[in-house]
Amino acid sequence: MFTTILAGRTAPLAATRSRAVPRVATRAAQAAISLHVAGYASQVKPIERIAVVGSGLMGAGVVQVAAQAGLHVYMVDLNDESLRKGEKIITSSLKRVAKKKFGGDAEGADARAYIDDVMSRVKLSKDSAAAASDSQLVVEAIVENLQTKQALFRGLDKAAPAETIFVSNTSSLPIGDIASATGAARQAQFAGMHFFNPVPQMKLVEIIRTPQTSDAVFDALVAVTKKIGKVPVACKDTPGFIVNRLLVPYMMEALRLVERGDASKEDVDTAMKLGAGYPMGPFELLDYVGLDTTKYITDGWYQFGKGLKGDKLVGPSSLLDKLVEEKKLGRKSGEGFYSYQGVGADKGKR
Ligand code: 3HC
Repeated sequence: MFTTILAGRTAPLAATRSRAVPRVATRAAQAAISLHVAGYASQVKPIERIAVVGSGLMGAGVVQVAAQAGLHVYMVDLNDESLRKGEKIITSSLKRVAKKKFGGDAEGADARAYIDDVMSRVKLSKDSAAAASDSQLVVEAIVENLQTKQALFRGLDKAAPAETIFVSNTSSLPIGDIASATGAARQAQFAGMHFFNPVPQMKLVEIIRTPQTSDAVFDALVAVTKKIGKVPVACKDTPGFIVNRLLVPYMMEALRLVERGDASKEDVDTAMKLGAGYPMGPFELLDYVGLDTTKYITDGWYQFGKGLKGDKLVGPSSLLDKLVEEKKLGRKSGEGFYSYQGVGADKGKR
């Protein structure tokens, strides 16, 4: 049996794998865990073919990083227009990557060959069932609506091979609720894989396991996350997982600070960038994430969130509500707390 060292104690790997977040005391212990997880994962068939359903900013980002890592990827959406938009998100991001890779020239022969090579592994599809039937992993990145996600997975459960793993990139819905639309066997193959925006740049992936998710599936997801150049962390199926559970209340506190008139949004942003080393201030980040997205997350938690229901930490903000009502949603709409007229939703500075 594999063993590993946890906080100075020796524990069976099976026990560590079923912990949501292993408590690691030292760097040596961390290295030991990585080695053992890698050893175990090598027994699981590596994932080489995936389908990503949803070609928005997040879905397209996942398609891109997977194809860059050599995986064969279906990018699935409902119509040609959405697929074309997704393709454009990928090619403009790949140009940024190629520019760095090939000495600042994104249009040269090397850069073009690189982009063509990555794109040769991406297949566009409007048929999610056909894509899932040819994939070892299905990543869902569609609209944040429980019924819509359940309907998708209910259909895919019938179409995909028994061993295909299903994951959702949801940021606000319980993975267990989404998985409940599938049969018992598939629920052992169901987990969350939460990526961060901008996907090509953010190194983290949260792997969310429900009580049903099997150890082998968890290990396969750890392995594929590493293969695509990201760093996995494990979390239970709890509201906000790790990052959003901390980040969203922080942004809500920033809103309340400005609502009370304690400081301006500009000064709050400057303070957090220069005083706490964050790459963006909370208002820049709100605009980046999308004001509607943040409102959707907090409204859901305030009404139904396990351990968060009715908590004023995630209660409504009049400032946020007003901007969302005015359709000022942040970068994607051209205006939020700041104006982004003429600046792409996924790039540029305010
Ligand atoms: N594709 C490829 N590369 C990209 C990219 C993209 N879409 N976006 C940024 N980059 C790269 C640039 O090429 C550049 O690379 P280099 O430093 O090696 O030259 C680097 O990222 C920095 O980009 P820029 O110079 O254009 O801009 P910034 O220095 O201002 O960085 C940022 C932009 C990476 C977005 C940075 O401001 C940042 O990290 N912000 C915080 C983002 C964040 O917190 N994201 C998480 C949001 S929460 C979430 O997603 C969860 C969801 O559930 C809500």
